[in-house]
Amino acid sequence: MKIAVIQGPNLNMLGVREQHIYGPMTLDQIHEQMKASAAQNEVELEFFQSNLEGEIVDRIQECLGTVDGILINPAAFSHTSIAIKDALSAVNLPTVEVHISNIYKREEFRQKSITAGASTGVITGFGPFSYHLGLISLTQIIAEVKAAQQAQQDALAKAQVQKEEN
Ligand code: DQA
Repeated sequence: MKIAVIQGPNLNMLGVREQHIYGPMTLDQIHEQMKASAAQNEVELEFFQSNLEGEIVDRIQECLGTVDGILINPAAFSHTSIAIKDALSAVNLPTVEVHISNIYKREEFRQKSITAGASTGVITGFGPFSYHLGLISLTQIIAEVKAAQQAQQDALAKAQVQKEEN
């Protein structure tokens, strides 16, 4: 199973920016922890961070046919970007949106996520642990999607055999 981890603007500044909100961990440290838990479940992670909206749209489009799901923290673009929402809807992959802080507890402008409307689910407010919870949830969702697809294929194959026998 392959998952794209997409990080939005200013998340490269984790460990430096507003530690009272985002904590002391750097993005690299968060990614190292994720790699360790992914490896236990035979999940491969592809990391990407950008401060540019268009680059994030491009990265999401590249996910089609190359990964099984997307774990995304669109950061400030969550609250503004119809383009990122549309890209997520276009590729239509299992997607979990994560936020380190609890966006519902913060300024009013952060309390709405436009991009969340294109996600399977959202995890917000657990600090860097949000990424871990997001990864567990997404892994489970992808496994369920794969199982449903397999069941459908098996049912089709069975129906075909029965048709040929009659
Ligand atoms: C954030 C919350 C956003 O409002 C903010 O712009 C970020 C980080 C979070 O992870 O808590 O950059 O997405």
